[in-house]
Amino acid sequence: MSVTADQVTSDSIALIPEEQEVLDRIITENRDRPGVTMVVLTLTQEQLGYVSPPMQAYISGALGVPLSHIYGVLTFYSFFRMSPIGRHKINICMGTACYVRGGPTLVDKYQQVLDIKLGETTADNRFTLEICRCVGACSQAPVVMIDDNAIGRVKPQDIAKTLRDYA
Ligand code: FES
Repeated sequence: MSVTADQVTSDSIALIPEEQEVLDRIITENRDRPGVTMVVLTLTQEQLGYVSPPMQAYISGALGVPLSHIYGVLTFYSFFRMSPIGRHKINICMGTACYVRGGPTLVDKYQQVLDIKLGETTADNRFTLEICRCVGACSQAPVVMIDDNAIGRVKPQDIAKTLRDYA
């Protein structure tokens, strides 16, 4: 038997009130729609920017859908995020030219310097780390995009200094 959004206590899942308000509205307005799980997850992503583990638990309880199913949907579609995006988005190009000229080494180094994995955001919410396809600047490989700025011929030893410019 499913429970309503009201029956899921906020103290057990640590949602902030604004998030819960948005989720309650989304769930109430869409509860009877076909494919309600996908609808609710998509609207949550669009309106809150991500679907965090507490949000997943809340939606699971409110819709009576197993958490494993919700997690499966979120991990299947790259559209979904489980953590917020930082103030600066770092995209390491992994197109062919950048890959062969050191892209994977840059991924390792960025993860080390930022102390996060790909797809994650730093604890201070400054940086989100991701990879991307060719950004059209192959002659400058390896290329890293920080927000809308393409940085070419990136060397692992320059990464920490570059990041300080975005402090
Ligand atoms: S492969 Fe990286 S810019 Fe083209």
